[in-house]
Amino acid sequence: MLDAQEITLRFLDTKLQVHPDVVRYIQEQDEPDLIDRIIAQVPDNTIVVSSHHIPGMHATRDGTRFLVDPMVEIVSGSAGTSGAVNGTGDYLHYFRDRYNRLGSMIRGRVGAMPIEGLSRSNRYRQEECTIIGMVVEVKTTTNGHRIAEIEDSSASISVLFRKDRPVFGDAERIIHDEVIGVRGKLSNDGRLFFAEQLYRPDIRIDNTPFTSEQPGSAVFISDVHVGSNTFLGECWSRFADWLSDSDYGYLLIAGDLVDGIGIYPGQESELTIKNIYEQYDAFGAMLSDLPSRIRIIVSPGNHDVVRGAEPQPVIPAAFTKKFPSNCLLVENPAVVNLQGVRVLMYHGRSIDDMIGLIPGASYEQSGLMMEEMLQRRHLAPAYGRKTPIAAGKTDRLIIDPLPEILHTGHVHIKGITNYRGVLGINAGTWQSQTAFQKQMNVNPTPALAVVVDLQTLVPETVSFA
Ligand SMILES: [Fe+2]
Repeated sequence: MLDAQEITLRFLDTKLQVHPDVVRYIQEQDEPDLIDRIIAQVPDNTIVVSSHHIPGMHATRDGTRFLVDPMVEIVSGSAGTSGAVNGTGDYLHYFRDRYNRLGSMIRGRVGAMPIEGLSRSNRYRQEECTIIGMVVEVKTTTNGHRIAEIEDSSASISVLFRKDRPVFGDAERIIHDEVIGVRGKLSNDGRLFFAEQLYRPDIRIDNTPFTSEQPGSAVFISDVHVGSNTFLGECWSRFADWLSDSDYGYLLIAGDLVDGIGIYPGQESELTIKNIYEQYDAFGAMLSDLPSRIRIIVSPGNHDVVRGAEPQPVIPAAFTKKFPSNCLLVENPAVVNLQGVRVLMYHGRSIDDMIGLIPGASYEQSGLMMEEMLQRRHLAPAYGRKTPIAAGKTDRLIIDPLPEILHTGHVHIKGITNYRGVLGINAGTWQSQTAFQKQMNVNPTPALAVVVDLQTLVPETVSFA
């Protein structure tokens, strides 16, 4: 294979620059005269040779380009982008970014006015209008109505959702720190806003997911928990054999690769591998046993060795020495593009928080929790609960761009959903019920993999139990 620098120099010899995608393409084709053929056919005034000069390369949406071969492109969450855990100064930036970006998604569908504007005119006591704000606080009144204080950059106001109004169903699920729009009227004394309709950033009802032009399938799993005495090694062997016999191009693993050390009290007695390096070595050896043609993409979870605050960085190199070279490490969360199909990988710790905050929510319905995330266009809307968030200048937990697939884990219970064209997948775990789960009455669904055909986005669950 030609060296990337060599390729670049060959183009420079003829005063041409070359895009890295093209360099990669040339490397993968491995045809000796390809460079000369490309140079011969580019127009005279060309400065940079890019993929549109080459018939074998395909253009996709958004002007981004990729190769026909199985290919993974990291859209966000590549190594080193998670940022530091910052001081309090960044919280202001963080929440402003969250409000601006989620607010503009709502504003794209409905016109809205600043909250401050309400008090300036008597008009809004007679006429309906729409305001958009971040939920500062939400509670149920003694009469069973729901009341939320919402805030934009101009002011804040209390919004009342009456229990006898149709809007109440949506309002029951309001959680703090999400961004909502409300249509309604101001009370006569100007202190309360009576809501008739609630808007969330959500997904457009006519959303049509992108599908791959080329054949290809991806396999989704999570929560392998290597090192635990409940890790299901025999099931994994069956899974590995099955993968070897398949022609699937991608394997995605959404966190909790290993069981970790000191994650919960008394964990030591439930570990078969008590050294964190050895846990990752064992996991790396398992990946090395899989066919090297499979592109493996791994992101961390709350049992992994990196900081718990999200976004979580990639697993550091000191722990991945035994990982095969076909394994790509990404952060949590991360967006990866598989043949043009976008997958948002998120471990799913916030599901714990949402189950506590949303009436009727349960661990058995992780599919519904993914829908709640998509409606709010946010992976962890409630700030300051069990999900630690590293407040950076931008909110990396906003769901933007919209993926075709949302891949979560953490709850150890399978859940699949399709919400407005977005496929939500939680493939469960590779660990049988732990003592802690037994105590909490959590019944895991272990040893499952979900396969998705990238041309149809149809999921299929395969069991190795
Ligand atoms: Fe887990």
